[in-house]
Amino acid sequence: MKVLLPGGAGYIGSHTCVELINAGHEAVILDNFSNSCAEAVARIEEITGKKIPLYNADACDPEAVEKVFSENKIDAVIHFAGYKAVGESCEKPLMYYRNNLDSALTVLEAMKRHGVSNFIFSSSATVYGTPESVPLVETMPTGSPTNPYGRTKLMLEQILTDAAAADNNLSVVLLRYFNPIGAHESGRIGEDPNGIPNNLMPYITQVAAGRLPRLGVFGNDYPTPDGTGIRDYIHVVDLAKGHVKALDYAAEHKGSEIFNLGTGTGYSVLDIVNAFIKVNKVDIPYDIKPRRAGDIAECFADPAKAEKVLGWKAEKSLEDMCYDSWNWQSKNKNGYKS
Ligand code: NAD
Ligand code: UD1
Repeated sequence: MKVLLPGGAGYIGSHTCVELINAGHEAVILDNFSNSCAEAVARIEEITGKKIPLYNADACDPEAVEKVFSENKIDAVIHFAGYKAVGESCEKPLMYYRNNLDSALTVLEAMKRHGVSNFIFSSSATVYGTPESVPLVETMPTGSPTNPYGRTKLMLEQILTDAAAADNNLSVVLLRYFNPIGAHESGRIGEDPNGIPNNLMPYITQVAAGRLPRLGVFGNDYPTPDGTGIRDYIHVVDLAKGHVKALDYAAEHKGSEIFNLGTGTGYSVLDIVNAFIKVNKVDIPYDIKPRRAGDIAECFADPAKAEKVLGWKAEKSLEDMCYDSWNWQSKNKNGYKS
């Protein structure tokens, strides 16, 4: 299939692009580089040996999106485009609602005009809100995300479910990601956040690289075995492969379906720090800090549905995740700028 990837130059999109090509698909990337750069696409081409058509354009721009659909016979869309910084979404909610909602709606409208019927969406475990119990199962009710970013994901899940219900041709797959970390084994593509990272693994790798002095561990008084927060960290290459399976599924089904993409195993902040130190033989000095507002104690997936229905299961270990995260960061000290 020829697959359009809005936001395909970003962290998850770039890894998914590689896996799509490995699986024999073709990819077209549309990205405005608001949180990425063209170098990421050059590196995808280097890894795959394939030239990737690239549109430097805003997915909210109907004319630019129309141009992509007119110039390429697109079979499916995997929509990564969106802003994702939780704190920033609280400061600039309108910017988040405009970009995240409008980009998806603009692409969906173009799909309709061009008779393209498969849409895969990057959702998030954040739609579960504060879980009443773990593991999280897709049938559990969605909760109240604590920030505008999370609400854009919940709103888009609802919009996409409505769109699929109203259009017999449309197939929508909502992928609820847990916590992607790691990088491609080549060390040529990886996560390259702007400014000081908000998320745990890029913070750890920047401490290891000497770009940041110490890690702050946000709270050690949660009701978890070591007191630090527990999450379901998943290797980004496993996550990327989940998109390839979701694409196959979308091509064969109509309507909308939701899948958790997680490993089913929760690790604490200190589990991650200790595994990183052990695997990479580097020091990660850290201080215990107060809890971060909006954080939950524990969040991990029940990934059984994805295994049963998609035939997908995460395969990489915590050690692989720590090794590949550091392999990327140590070879690219300043991300794509180095
Ligand atoms: P990312 O920021 O690396 O990638 C998003 C890409 O979209 C970037 O390349 C950015 O330049 C592009 N983009 C943003 N707005 C655009 C627009 N209007 N037009 C064109 N391009 C645009 O983020 P990521 O980590 O790769 O995440 C991909 C998607 O998955 C996002 O929607 C994110 O919210 C979602 N998600 C990510 C995580 C995570 O932990 N990384 C977890 C759950 C969900
Ligand atoms: C966060 C977002 C979530 C988003 C996800 C991926 C919040 C409340 N949630 O999830 O909406 O989908 O990122 O972008 O921001 N930690 C530290 N020190 C740090 C950074 C993190 O101790 O410097 C801890 C956190 O308290 C948490 C764990 O590490 O227990 C993971 O944090 P993070 O990587 O930010 O992911 P989430 O909070 O799960």
